[in-house]
Amino acid sequence: MGKTSKDKRDIYYRKAKEEGWRARSAFKLLQIDTECHIFDGVSKAVDLCAAPGSWSQVLARKLNENYKKALETGNASPPKIVAVDLQAMAPLEGVIQLQGDITNTNTAQQIIAHFDNTQADLVVCDGAPDVTGLHDMDIFIQSQLLLAALNITTHILRPGGTFVAKIFRAKDVSFLYAQLRIFFPYVYCTKPSSSRNSSIEAFVVCKDYSPPEGYKPHMLNPLLTHEPCNFEELTGVNRIIVPFVVCGDLNQPDSDMCYPLNLDGKKYKYHEPVQTPIAPPYAEALSLLENRRAGSSFTFDHETEFNETDINIAIENGASSMAEFKKNALITATENNSEDSDAIAKTESIKDENKEEEATIAALQNLYVSEEAGNIDNILI
Ligand SMILES: C[S@@+](CC[C@H](N)C(=O)[O-])C[C@H]1O[C@@H](n2cnc3c(N)ncnc32)[C@H](O)[C@@H]1O
Repeated sequence: MGKTSKDKRDIYYRKAKEEGWRARSAFKLLQIDTECHIFDGVSKAVDLCAAPGSWSQVLARKLNENYKKALETGNASPPKIVAVDLQAMAPLEGVIQLQGDITNTNTAQQIIAHFDNTQADLVVCDGAPDVTGLHDMDIFIQSQLLLAALNITTHILRPGGTFVAKIFRAKDVSFLYAQLRIFFPYVYCTKPSSSRNSSIEAFVVCKDYSPPEGYKPHMLNPLLTHEPCNFEELTGVNRIIVPFVVCGDLNQPDSDMCYPLNLDGKKYKYHEPVQTPIAPPYAEALSLLENRRAGSSFTFDHETEFNETDINIAIENGASSMAEFKKNALITATENNSEDSDAIAKTESIKDENKEEEATIAALQNLYVSEEAGNIDNILI
């Protein structure tokens, strides 16, 4: 797998590097804006779950443009952008950065403190949990991130302001829409063309923040305080259907297609990612790779040699932890060097472990399907 394979498979990844965005997600926010005009008149914004920072880059650019326009009319307030993430983010000019968990009361309070006596015009949240592969679990965690973001938003957004957040369009998404409609008269579900069709991700655009009369922002969200809350109580008009808006016309590149490297008559030039992760889970692998490039060979505990290609393949295939990376790298290395009997034996046992893991996931998925069909008797676990 070469250096350019991802550039071929993912045009938005490639364009992000060419245009200087830290992540392909920048195009999602830009395409949402083209359709929904979320930056109009905005001078203060919060970016929740912001790392590596491409949405913050978009905010910085758009808010500066607004500031320059406002200066011409003489009624300008300088832009203010607060960005928060669990992970450390490389600095960005004009962006105040906080590192913390948005589902934690302390982080929420730190963000609110930055808006002491002022209010934000826009809050965006692109929060996504580390995917576990257990769909129900991933969907649950994602929706909890959205609720935590909404809770923080009710403390800092000015009346009339806008909230944009990632949402998974899954079972029971109408509960989330119902929650949002309590605070915003206009709630749209948008799908930018840079968001893969194969992904259940979409983005809610909520306009004209109007909290119910007498509503006082509080920290009693079950997520922030861990108090139980019965969402089943939402019935009737609370289960509303939200209009679905596709952002971007057919002229926009298709995020699920492979494109040739030389596109639209332009000669292809490789670009390094704009901002590489500053503390990635595969940091140890990268240091091994550097050692390798410096000429020293390295080994893992079972004395199997790994070469640069093995490591690149493991990283490209999205190993999310060192343990997973080692597993992938061992399998790849063994497939390339079938004479090492110890390594072959170890690989076989890893493959067996993987099969067991897959079987457990399949069994859990069956459980879900059977429950859905009201047929609990046939469950095989
Ligand atoms: C898809 S990325 C965001 C990409 C970002 N919008 C950009 O354009 O660069 C999702 C982010 O959500 C963050 N995240 C997940 N759970 C979080 C939490 N509980 N609190 C804060 N950040 C969280 C992750 O650390 C990750 O950086």
